[in-house]
Amino acid sequence: MTKVSMTVNGKAVSRDVPDNTLLVEYLREGLRLTGTHVGCDTTQCGACVVHVNGKSVKSCTQLAASLDGAEVTTIEGIAAGNDLHPMQVAFNDHHGLQCGYCTPGMIMTGIDMVNRYQAEGKDLTEEAIRFELEGNICRCTGYHNIVKAIDDAAGKMSSVAKAAE
Ligand code: FES
Ligand code: FES
Repeated sequence: MTKVSMTVNGKAVSRDVPDNTLLVEYLREGLRLTGTHVGCDTTQCGACVVHVNGKSVKSCTQLAASLDGAEVTTIEGIAAGNDLHPMQVAFNDHHGLQCGYCTPGMIMTGIDMVNRYQAEGKDLTEEAIRFELEGNICRCTGYHNIVKAIDDAAGKMSSVAKAAE
């Protein structure tokens, strides 16, 4: 057992966890944050992506015990009250989901890629979005609308960032 203290979606959480507990188990079973999904459990599908210290991470490949002091954000933590995150709005507007199983991971990956490209001043082209989605698998949509949603959200996230400057 290891005592792990993290901030999860802005709230401090401290628990004793078995050393082999995966972050996704900690989130889903320990904290009941079941929006983070498990598709493959082998680092392939991306359904389990969350943000750790602001960067997207496959939570089926991280041990909770290694994350003492980390800031973790899950799909449950990205809306501002009743206002959905622009990436969530864009997935809805562009029909970027069907069954929804991959969607939390797609959205968390999408936010991370937009933030990285904008921080580096790089153009997030359609080709770049498709490249960045390599680690996220969707069995339903054919990806076109997911790509459109991320492209649309990138514009809106950029406007929000500029307004805050
Ligand atoms: S469940 Fe983590 S990558 Fe598939
Ligand atoms: S919407 Fe069903 S797996 Fe992507």
